Amino acid sequence: MRTRPLKVALLGCGVVGSEVARIMTTHADDLAARIGAPVELAGVAVRRPSKVREGIDPALVTTDATALVKRGDIDVVVEVIGGIEPARTLITTAFEHGASVVSANKALLAQDGAALHAVAEANSKDLYYEAAVAGAIPLIRPLRESLAGDKVNRVLGIVNGTTNFILDKMDSTGAGYQEALDEATALGYAEADPTADVEGFDAAAKAAILAGIAFHTRVRLDDVYREGMTEVTSADFASAREMGCTIKLLAICERAEDGASVTARVHPAMIPLTHPLASVRGAYNAVFVESDASGQLMFYGPGAGGSPTASAVLGDLVAVCRNRLSGATGPGESAYAALPVSPMGEVVTRYHISLDVADKPGVLAQVATVFAEHGVSIDTVRQQGKDGEASLVVVTHRASDAALSGTVEALRKLDTVRGVASIMRVEGE
Ligand SMILES: NC(=O)c1ccc[n+]([C@@H]2O[C@H](COP(=O)([O-])OP(=O)(O)OC[C@H]3O[C@@H](n4cnc5c(N)ncnc54)[C@H](OP(=O)(O)O)[C@@H]3O)[C@@H](O)[C@H]2O)c1
Repeated sequence: MRTRPLKVALLGCGVVGSEVARIMTTHADDLAARIGAPVELAGVAVRRPSKVREGIDPALVTTDATALVKRGDIDVVVEVIGGIEPARTLITTAFEHGASVVSANKALLAQDGAALHAVAEANSKDLYYEAAVAGAIPLIRPLRESLAGDKVNRVLGIVNGTTNFILDKMDSTGAGYQEALDEATALGYAEADPTADVEGFDAAAKAAILAGIAFHTRVRLDDVYREGMTEVTSADFASAREMGCTIKLLAICERAEDGASVTARVHPAMIPLTHPLASVRGAYNAVFVESDASGQLMFYGPGAGGSPTASAVLGDLVAVCRNRLSGATGPGESAYAALPVSPMGEVVTRYHISLDVADKPGVLAQVATVFAEHGVSIDTVRQQGKDGEASLVVVTHRASDAALSGTVEALRKLDTVRGVASIMRVEGE
């Protein structure tokens, strides 16, 4: 084993960074044996230098992250600051000054992954980011390496623990959205400002990263259709149950049936209770992958938290250090397929539509005609009447999102349709 240590610069020492530092220290001997050389924490960049950080030598702490990544003797920079800047500039500078990079930064990778990979490649360095998607769950490496010989057709995932906790609470207790969100906040599952989670931004960033790797195609955050889950109601859960379904916020990356394009989207959807993703409870994450040769695979586990996320960071650190010692680099960006990313209108799926209608003869025929005129075929209809008003629940066969939007627009114009109470996609069948 080499005795000269590999030097690691840690950028950020918060929820994830402090756990990375702790595991690096407590598992130092095992890590050295697995890598073939010791790893040394050479510097820790933070914003607030006076904060007490257990187990961190204060002499290593600096607020000058730029000087740290420019030192020239750093082998690996671990970026766990988050956000776009200064993380992006620091990572770029690290490559230019000879370091490889491990990052947990989904927002940055989803927005600028291609540019960062290009700088890494130009400098013959590694860029690894297993922790950026679904915390501890091995996903990036299985998609990038284990499935490199297969053809992935679909990735369907629960990739945000906060929203899964809220939806699971609504489902299991009958709570409304706000009540479930309040509980998630009190238990520390939701941040004070939960927008990134509940509006689907966090899941959309992960969908972009997963789609890019799965389909060997550049998929940026802007390419991902996104709908949050704040409008999901107890009534939606009641409807879902009547269909033998539950509701999850899903990240869905799909290859079109003809294989010529891909789509990536995040939105709440009904999935059958028999689907493995339906049983993912609380703040857990799970990703279901369908590919030509392997069939169906499911990856499950804790998708966030300091220690689980640090596990994924450390796995990358070991891999990057091994590459360093052997003078090699691991797999970089694979975007050779360059498939077009289609807009949401071209997505084909099933829909559950709940309408408030007048309770009088002929309404059902009128509604059915509108669906037929737009080429959307109806699978089932359920009607419930009371006091001259009725609710009509229509479940469709597979149709394009554009056809469904046209149908809904036309339905809203019917005198007998008082309102469209909810539209929910049905997935996983
Ligand atoms: N937390 C999770 O469960 C989780 C899961 C998966 C991925 N991630 C990703 O991991 C990354 C880190 O998340 P986190 O939860 O650990 O964040 P965090 O607790 O807010 O920690 C951020 C750290 O970065 C430091 N920092 C902020 N701005 C800085 C700057 N300009 N220069 C140097 N240091 C700076 C902060 O310093 P101070 O300590 O002085 O404030 C803090 O130590 C993010 O990309 C996040 O998306 C997190």
